[in-house]
Amino acid sequence: EVRLPRAENIVLIGLMGSGKSTVGRMVAHMLGFQFADTDHLIIEKAGCSIPEIFAKEGEDGFRLRESEALRSLLGCRHCVIATGGGIITQVRNRPLLQHLGFITWLEADPKLLARRTASNNDRPLLRGEEPPLVKLERLLSERKPLYKQLADLRIQTDELSQQESAYGVAESA
Ligand code: S3P
Repeated sequence: EVRLPRAENIVLIGLMGSGKSTVGRMVAHMLGFQFADTDHLIIEKAGCSIPEIFAKEGEDGFRLRESEALRSLLGCRHCVIATGGGIITQVRNRPLLQHLGFITWLEADPKLLARRTASNNDRPLLRGEEPPLVKLERLLSERKPLYKQLADLRIQTDELSQQESAYGVAESA
């Protein structure tokens, strides 16, 4: 297997509510890195919200936009990149993530994730028939092998403050 040379970025993966954006911003601040967030890039380019994209284009349309956002980051250096929780589900994204940099998985208990995501309405996958906790547990069991496979580092964040998680990520860089 030929490995592409790694770019010098930090990539954060993990389920919705695991703190990728908040922790990512903190890490960027600590290291003097830039910060990028695939969800924000998608929203900017589309000029509408993630629920609107899901409604108009379906999840498939969203996933295409997500891959496009990821590709647009390939020239980045010294950047902390927060990704959407489902980015690892698309086979085409995986070599791009690996190429971008050091991948850290922010792990958290689904109960905690359900609590953290309860107050906001911008995650269409948690607004279906299934209760959010059940959905998050299901997504975790589907995605865990992929997070595990791609992660260079995993940080169990259940007992950590976001500041402590950020130190953990920054130290590993
Ligand atoms: C998704 C996670 C979301 C967003 C979209 C789909 C997922 O990002 O990309 O709603 O499939 O897990 P966050 O992980 O930043 O919430």
